[in-house]
Amino acid sequence: MKAIVYTKYGTPDVLELKEVDKPIPKDNEVLIKVYAVSINDWDLGLLQGDLINRLMNGLLKPKIKILGSDIAGRIEAIGKNVKKFQLGDEVYGDLSGRWGGFAEYSCARENELALKPVAMSFEEAAAIPQAGMLAIQGLHDKGQIHSGQKLLINGAGGGVGTFAVQISKLYGVEVTGVDSSSKLEMMRSMGFDHVIDYTQEDFTKNGHCYDLILDVKTNRSISDYARALCSNGIYVTVGGSMVRLLQALILGPWISMISKKNIRIVGLKQNKDLAYMNELFEAGKIKPVIDGPYKLDEVPKAFRHFGEGAHKGKVVITV
Ligand SMILES: NC(=O)c1ccc[n+]([C@@H]2O[C@H](COP(=O)([O-])OP(=O)(O)OC[C@H]3O[C@@H](n4cnc5c(N)ncnc54)[C@H](OP(=O)(O)O)[C@@H]3O)[C@@H](O)[C@H]2O)c1
Repeated sequence: MKAIVYTKYGTPDVLELKEVDKPIPKDNEVLIKVYAVSINDWDLGLLQGDLINRLMNGLLKPKIKILGSDIAGRIEAIGKNVKKFQLGDEVYGDLSGRWGGFAEYSCARENELALKPVAMSFEEAAAIPQAGMLAIQGLHDKGQIHSGQKLLINGAGGGVGTFAVQISKLYGVEVTGVDSSSKLEMMRSMGFDHVIDYTQEDFTKNGHCYDLILDVKTNRSISDYARALCSNGIYVTVGGSMVRLLQALILGPWISMISKKNIRIVGLKQNKDLAYMNELFEAGKIKPVIDGPYKLDEVPKAFRHFGEGAHKGKVVITV
């Protein structure tokens, strides 16, 4: 089968389209003919090989050589212990941990997959798993979103932000989105009530306060974020600078103790809320924002686009 392979850490130039062996599913796995896959920040980290990702995937060179976690496709073979799926089922899910999505075929365990609604395209399905779960788990599980709140999403024009605004609108909250100028028009068209260009304005210093902040960048000090929260406000980070995340982990409980403000961190629960995403999609309440689709041999170009932060929504590859 064809796959995008890398044998050393580096820029998207190290990604090569190659002929490799088709994977064979174990007894508890299915073999999926992949039709679409999307790029996540984690794929970029694994490609570039920062320290954390090297600890996970090999210090000197990558052990797992095919990246790509968010896949959508059709089941082509089934291990003998698989109960939930049948041949021909159209499925999608987040395979991070095993990866292997930038390929014509991939294997997955049944708990990593959900059935894809008929009306959802493979490209839409591949856009959902990781960013959709982070948006839901950030807003619901950690953020306890409810009507009448003022919500701010920092890094709002990418994968998580474009799902988060659609979900938050179901609660009747007033949503402000922060991103670079090239994304603000798209964000307004998606329903953001207010948009802020972070190159022009610092939302932590503009005198406004928010009941809930969902942050995908976490590039400011925790005291800056606390200042931007209203009394009883909740700040939820899904990711960003490692130093800032450590700060949130260590200082967050203190801030919660001495003020009426909460600092919380999302630990992704992969695929937990795919059934809920299916419900929202079928009710016409969410629609993934797709940048692309690119073709499999364009994955290096798609990674460059993603790495420059030039994408809007999710960068998707059709296989
Ligand atoms: N918690 C977990 O368990 C877990 C698991 C997996 C991933 N993650 C995290 O989840 C996040 C993924 O988010 P995503 O998919 O939405 O990423 P994304 O698609 O890359 O979106 C990020 C957006 O932030 C914008 N941005 C860049 N610098 C900014 C700044 N200083 N202020 C405001 N916005 C800025 C980017 O646009 P411009 O570049 O044009 O500015 C981009 O539109 C990552 O932080 C990742 O580490 C967390």
